[in-house]
Amino acid sequence: MRHVVLSGFMGSGKSSVGRALAARLGRPFVDTDAEIAKHAARPTAGDVFAEHGEPRFREIEAQIATAALARAEPHVIAFGGGTVTARAVRWAALDRATLVTLDVPVETSLARVASSEHRPNLAVRDPGGRAAHLLSERRAAYAECHARVDGTAPVEEIVRHVEQIAGKALECVPLGERTYVVEIAPAGHGEVVSETIARLGASSRVIVTDKNVHNARFLSLPAEVRDGASEVVLEPGEHEKTIAAVERIWDAALTAGIDRRGVVVAFGGGVVGDLAGFAAATLLRGVRFVQIPTTLLAMVDASVGGKTGFDRAAGKNLVGAFHQPSGVVIDVAHLETLDARQRAAGLAEVVKIGLADDAALLDDVERLAEPLARGDHDALAEIVRRAVAAKVRVVRDDETERGRRAILNLGHTVGHALEAHQGYRGLLHGEAVAVGTVLELAAFADMGLGDAALARRAADVLRALGLPTEARAAEVEAAWTYASSDKKRSGARVAVPVVREVGRSEMVHVDLAELGRAVARGATR
Ligand code: GLY
Repeated sequence: MRHVVLSGFMGSGKSSVGRALAARLGRPFVDTDAEIAKHAARPTAGDVFAEHGEPRFREIEAQIATAALARAEPHVIAFGGGTVTARAVRWAALDRATLVTLDVPVETSLARVASSEHRPNLAVRDPGGRAAHLLSERRAAYAECHARVDGTAPVEEIVRHVEQIAGKALECVPLGERTYVVEIAPAGHGEVVSETIARLGASSRVIVTDKNVHNARFLSLPAEVRDGASEVVLEPGEHEKTIAAVERIWDAALTAGIDRRGVVVAFGGGVVGDLAGFAAATLLRGVRFVQIPTTLLAMVDASVGGKTGFDRAAGKNLVGAFHQPSGVVIDVAHLETLDARQRAAGLAEVVKIGLADDAALLDDVERLAEPLARGDHDALAEIVRRAVAAKVRVVRDDETERGRRAILNLGHTVGHALEAHQGYRGLLHGEAVAVGTVLELAAFADMGLGDAALARRAADVLRALGLPTEARAAEVEAAWTYASSDKKRSGARVAVPVVREVGRSEMVHVDLAELGRAVARGATR
């Protein structure tokens, strides 16, 4: 159970809603403004602000908010109006709490605070202008939350609404005003898809899927999502991830008369998501899209983070764009029709992110390997949420992969080369990543960059999940020509994520040919 944090502009009702919500949930309540006043032994937080100035006030506020978030028992916490302007506090709240922004128009805010305590922020000749300016300065910070609620509604109604939100499994990808939420829905709850799409107020919908998903799962989408939507049903498989498939989506959307408020819905695995996302990125120079992943691989990796594109003969994903979805709905019930091989392929990406950035996640995958391999819904839902949270922490630091995000490519230099060499008709993507992860870790050890025990640990867990971990040296050598198309290559060198210890990795530039020789030495003869 997470804390519930209420944020929002002055006068949005954080304290009164917070107190009522805490009473309803039977949880302790913390009001950070009251704590600041107590800490400084002053009547109100406004007095502390006026006495010390904003920079010092924000420091005290950050300490108090961080301490409240660190409490083990789930609390209801009302932040001050400016608390979330500190990114570290805002992101700590996203990690440890359900963060809800209460929205009110500036006029309501002014009317509500006029009669209350001293507001040094508004002690100017034009308080209305100042409030409007502050609100616009904070717009992006307030957008980074799990949900927004109308703060002008009656308190009882807001409390019930926030209680519902607090019961959901939500992960927020905080990207200012482009923030979106990944909802891990209870299995089989299609209405979450309707709610997500309804929130976008779409003028039209184009649903992109593939034949397999269409046959097995299309009717699990609620009627209000399907009815009146245009459908594009693609051929399944990585070898269909081509510009021709993108053209089909473009043409279907344009024929249906899509406008800038239209939404593309990607209903399928990673291939469908990448193609639909790229089509959305380029249609009318960018329309919104929603990801409804139906494979484990797409749930834990591809649907989150905004990488879109398609393959060319020279290699995978060589043409594409970053275009973030406006929402992601994950329902592990879609995995029922996924065979064990596809399920295992998705787990390879979870092992990858655990090794690269989240040691506790890797421990849990090892502990839950048997139920995960068997397809147990609870184990899958738990691991999907943890993997999404781990990915979000990387993506929010480096949305467009200028640096740290590239650690998510562990296993992909070798994996992509093997896939391309097999014409995308051999190993599944996740299987190629599994083999690539083990071979890259072994190669780093061979090159003096890492510890050979990491490759052994990775191979053990991947095998327990039912994944391949080996390739023949002759195949690696033949595939290596495709490694020169790696997007992280620069001249003769390529940037690879080197795992220093489980959960801690960094990008290192190595000689591509030398890496190829080390990878081949670790492959089977
Ligand atoms: N699949 C790796 C990433 O999204 O960065």
